[in-house]
Amino acid sequence: MVQPAHIPVMLEEAIDELRVQPGGRYVDCTLGAGGHAASILSRSQPGGQLLGIDADPTAVQNLKTRMERYGDSVLLINDNFSNLESICYRYDFLPVHGILFDLGLASFQVDNAERGFSFQKDAPLDMRVNPLQETTAADIVNSYPEAELADLIWTYGEEPASRRIAHYIVAERPVYTSTELAGIIERAVGGRHGKIHPATRTFQALRIVVNDELDHLQLALQQAVKVLGFEGRLVVISYHSLEDRIVKQFMRREASGCICPPGTPSCICGHTPTLKVITKKVVVPTRAEIRANPRSRSAKMRVAERVVNDDEHTGLIERLCESVEMKENAWRQPTLLKKIRRLFLTV
Ligand SMILES: C[S@@+](CC[C@H](N)C(=O)[O-])C[C@H]1O[C@@H](n2cnc3c(N)ncnc32)[C@H](O)[C@@H]1O
Repeated sequence: MVQPAHIPVMLEEAIDELRVQPGGRYVDCTLGAGGHAASILSRSQPGGQLLGIDADPTAVQNLKTRMERYGDSVLLINDNFSNLESICYRYDFLPVHGILFDLGLASFQVDNAERGFSFQKDAPLDMRVNPLQETTAADIVNSYPEAELADLIWTYGEEPASRRIAHYIVAERPVYTSTELAGIIERAVGGRHGKIHPATRTFQALRIVVNDELDHLQLALQQAVKVLGFEGRLVVISYHSLEDRIVKQFMRREASGCICPPGTPSCICGHTPTLKVITKKVVVPTRAEIRANPRSRSAKMRVAERVVNDDEHTGLIERLCESVEMKENAWRQPTLLKKIRRLFLTV
């Protein structure tokens, strides 16, 4: 049986939350095998446009032919989503009606032994999402001092046996392949206990560090707010607690009126909300989805909507009053709100 390149996770839920509309402008920051992207494109026709980004050149290359039929409606870019804002400006793709992040890896990456992401397949310890990047997992495993390696496994893998694992790795260096490393970890923790493989957390930690995943996510979220139009939606699907925490805290902070440290007598930050949190409770896949696609089991989706803060609002009104169209048609417009919205979405 031919395995699908990737089964998109919470597809209907994500597309509904993005509120994909005909004519809208959307960014899929993590194209992968293009499942979400294809759905966004078909729901946004006629007139919709998609800017798709992926750090893995293979992902982008594979999709170029598949998406040819959408012609100019689709733009596929091989880049890191931490450059989201500059990409949108470079391609004049602003403001955006919806942005999707479906983090982590696609099945075609995990299942390709040569990429070294899986401890179940023997391959060089690589783990780079972008193969042009310099540092591989082998470089880290074979060069970091023991204490640093232990800290990394603890911080990014939340692995309780991090010190022991680091000690075993250093004793058995150099380590070249994924199965060699998995074997060392198994010996360090005294064999397999429970459902998850003892190498799971260490592999997660290495992957996060090799690809600088958490920093890129932080940067991209901040930029997402800058390119989203009024009422534009931000949808993020994450697969482990470190990512989810970043997303949750980011949305909460952006939705706050004041972000001064607790105990500050009066507000000095001047922060105004840029987002409204839509998912008060995190959304997870249904049992049926997990049964059909076990890889979806750790997924968590959070959604926020761009709101206009006071300064932006004043700026919009000023621009609205100065616009020729407004001067000419002024109060003949059916509703002022509709006009303001249109202005904002065509900055
Ligand atoms: C879970 S897959 C996305 C699957 C996709 N939604 C689909 O339906 O096929 C995640 C994708 O994000 C890409 N990726 C991970 N980190 C990235 C980053 N910092 N910048 C751009 N792409 C990234 C990976 O290469 C991978 O293809």
